[in-house]
Amino acid sequence: MMSTTRAPYISTPIEKVKTWFKAAPVTKFPSNGGACVQYKGKQIAVFNFTKEDKWYACQNLCPHKMEMVLSRGMIGDAAGIPKVACPLHKKTFSLDSGENLNGDLEAIAVYPVKVEGGFVYLGFSD
Ligand code: FES
Repeated sequence: MMSTTRAPYISTPIEKVKTWFKAAPVTKFPSNGGACVQYKGKQIAVFNFTKEDKWYACQNLCPHKMEMVLSRGMIGDAAGIPKVACPLHKKTFSLDSGENLNGDLEAIAVYPVKVEGGFVYLGFSD
């Protein structure tokens, strides 16, 4: 079933990036945790995976019950795949591909992240 609430969330491979959105200073993001950022009416969950020295971004919307909660999820590693677990019912998603790792939910959208001069930038195709 198509849902309009999900329409704005489209995975953006780095080669499709048109806008690097200056989201916030690095210090706004907790170590090994996430925070929510707004971009053109979208809620984007951004994760500071300190343990792996990596950053990830995905839609904040969990496709299970359509709740804006993924930024509050626990991040971790599933056999080498960085993942986030939804805080509500523990559905897990790859932060690389967006794939639902413990079920057959639709993949979530993931976005490239870069850090420059102490700021976090998110890559969007619009
Ligand atoms: S709302 Fe995310 S797992 Fe249920």
